[in-house]
Amino acid sequence: MIHKFITYKGVKIHYTTQGKGEAVVLLHGFLEDARMWTLTKKYLPKTFKIICIDLFGHGQSEGLGYIYHMEEMAEAVFAVINNERVKKIHLAGHSMGGYVSIAFAEKFPDALRSLSMIHSTSRPDSKSKRADRERAIALVKRDHKGFTAHAIPLLFSEKARKNNLASIETLKKRAAEIPAGQIAASLEGMKIRKDREAILHFAPYPILFIGGKTDTVISIADTEEQMAAHSVTGIWQNTAHMGPWEMPKKTADILKRFWKDSKHHVVLHAQKTRE
Ligand code: MLT
Repeated sequence: MIHKFITYKGVKIHYTTQGKGEAVVLLHGFLEDARMWTLTKKYLPKTFKIICIDLFGHGQSEGLGYIYHMEEMAEAVFAVINNERVKKIHLAGHSMGGYVSIAFAEKFPDALRSLSMIHSTSRPDSKSKRADRERAIALVKRDHKGFTAHAIPLLFSEKARKNNLASIETLKKRAAEIPAGQIAASLEGMKIRKDREAILHFAPYPILFIGGKTDTVISIADTEEQMAAHSVTGIWQNTAHMGPWEMPKKTADILKRFWKDSKHHVVLHAQKTRE
């Protein structure tokens, strides 16, 4: 694995690459970083070039401004793939990484071979979710460590918490290292993100939704409705919100199969448009 940096609009962006072949870009969720893919990557073949990016203010990347807009993070992802001289990617994002992925899909549709939304949504925050974000922003500014220690276990279901104690401790430690201002900037960005559901109905590339049967962060009903859209393949996993931690092999197997099948989808789509 190679660690690399680019400068995007004056800020440092860190990412890693490994393997050779069709490029896959993996985007982590809120309070995580590129290292969240370590377990999943063990089960992905070396015949893909896997690029894992630290989004603004996470891992070793710096942040841009006081609000981390999903669109701006998508631009930074594009800058990374340009730096790698890659034209088309399979893009997969976990939760907040999914919000960035679908913003990328809106801006750069021609750069996609496929899009995977892992425990994520194309829909914006509801009114009550926005109110939760406000409370979270106030809390993180008041008690940064308390906020991260409280927030991380909530990403796992009660049962998953018992089975993932070591992962939770690792995540808590990493999250506590993110400065409060940067956590607030991500929360602000997620709070004002746009509705991008229309993309699910018009995308010329295949889209995968991986839902967690006991996810309490992303609405199960919302996910089910989005899975019904044209171009979308929906798969339910026996996990809560943290599938790549809870079931890394299963997550990798689903993604692998989807990326392989996506070639077929493109052919079918090309035939359809010729008819
Ligand atoms: C994440 O895991 O990225 C966040 O929990 C997503 C969110 O808060 O909407």
